[in-house]
Amino acid sequence: MASIALSDKALMDQQASCIVVLVEQDKLDTYEVKAVEKLFPALNALIKEREFSGKALTTLVVPVSCGNNLQHFMFVGLGKKNKKDAIDIETYRRALAKAVRVAESCKFDSLAIQLPSEKICNVGAAYFAQQSVIALDMALYSFSQFITDKSNLFEVQSILLVANDSNAQALQAGVKDGLIIAHSVALARHCVDSPPSHLTPLHLAQVAEKVAKKNNLKITIFDEKALLKMGMGGITGVSKGSDNDCQLVILEYHCVNKNAPTLAFVGKGITFDSGGLSIKPGDAMEDMKIDMSGAAAVIAAMDALAQLKPNVNVVGIAPMTENLPSGKAIMPGDVLTFYNGKTAEVKNTDAEGRLILADALSYAVKHYKPDAIVDLATLTGACAYALGPFFSGLMGNSDHVINQVERAAATSGDAVWRLPFTDDYKAAIKSPIADMQNIGSRTYRAGAITAGHFLAHFVDDVPWAHLDIAGTAHNVPDLPYYRAETATGVGVRLLVDIAQNWQ
Ligand code: BES
Ligand code: ZN
Ligand code: ZN
Repeated sequence: MASIALSDKALMDQQASCIVVLVEQDKLDTYEVKAVEKLFPALNALIKEREFSGKALTTLVVPVSCGNNLQHFMFVGLGKKNKKDAIDIETYRRALAKAVRVAESCKFDSLAIQLPSEKICNVGAAYFAQQSVIALDMALYSFSQFITDKSNLFEVQSILLVANDSNAQALQAGVKDGLIIAHSVALARHCVDSPPSHLTPLHLAQVAEKVAKKNNLKITIFDEKALLKMGMGGITGVSKGSDNDCQLVILEYHCVNKNAPTLAFVGKGITFDSGGLSIKPGDAMEDMKIDMSGAAAVIAAMDALAQLKPNVNVVGIAPMTENLPSGKAIMPGDVLTFYNGKTAEVKNTDAEGRLILADALSYAVKHYKPDAIVDLATLTGACAYALGPFFSGLMGNSDHVINQVERAAATSGDAVWRLPFTDDYKAAIKSPIADMQNIGSRTYRAGAITAGHFLAHFVDDVPWAHLDIAGTAHNVPDLPYYRAETATGVGVRLLVDIAQNWQ
């Protein structure tokens, strides 16, 4: 695994295969640029020829001869400052990640990156260092476990963040927390990227068990037999078509303050979604191993929180099952009874996420009476269509929780967009034969919102926010800290931030 650390050795004395300098647009008269020019007098001519001005995410690689050796420098553009006289932190994240991508294509195995002053983004030093580490580590992530010929793969091995700064302590603290969060993001991504026969409900439960053991967290796991006995008709109903047992995992983090609020994080864990008897067409099924991204985010966030120790209690709940067709599978027309006693008619077995979340949310409400619930689910194609890959859909019954999620999104980088969640949409899931039906009536359209209304039946009056991550969980284009066709780990940074800064 690649390493990321701070270094206080002067930039020009660094031994890395490439030395990276971030530059603001049209501000190429910095000390670092001049230092490179001393070693490479034609620098100005090169800058002109390549028309490099420091536009956001543009790069310029400069080979410099040092005796018989080559030393490479890379300039990475940060663009111009915004109206608040700061570089947007997201632009900064992307610029760092871009440096990693360029390093990969140039086969630089070690980087020394001049860490700019946090003032450039108008943020605190610890947060700045933390975000730097997370962006870099996310860019380094790859999923190459099943590629047997590794000769064409190249991974950057080490990154030093060069800071000759006075606030070394804050930077160090930020790096430490950043590595914890980054490793959790990578854990979630790895789970999501794992093939569905490798990552069954039982395997995912074992990942949670490992997290619990490592961090001394309390864990409770209910298997299919136990869930049937408990009356969890949603998760066991979806699991009926599958040979593998379903699992409900509950991880608990307790802070030292007994009176601290309790947050419940709930994540959809469909380890493969074929649609069930309402089977998906082949191309829509291709990526459905990612349908456990919510559960992975919750488990991975608990791993980080156990180490970061925020001043709130957190319970992470992950219902896990496969959604497969078979002679035993639930059928359209079936009615399920959930853990809280409510019933739903299953009109479409492909709307299964809400069925398993119904039990998990009911369980959270009944056993933890949490001060807030946040759930994450790759719930609807409708949300992915509406918002595309850059924003998770956000809705819920509480402005307070929703506002905190929005705040955490802004600081963590896991972007969200609030959808209207008025009672107007409620009637879409009325059923003539049960308390509700599991798909919205055509007239109402708005599939992401009507799915949210289904979930709302299971949180009672607990303040709650729901995140639909169907579009953001995987294969997000253009953002250099993600990788095409792989998972994003969406939600991990967000959940950690929500818990750490809960008010
Ligand atoms: N897991 C899917 C949603 C999904 C779609 C996630 C695309 C990621 C990418 C979910 O279980 C589903 O199939 N939803 C249906 C609901 C419909 C039947 C009401 C959908 O969105 O088509
Ligand atoms: Zn489905
Ligand atoms: Zn699904």
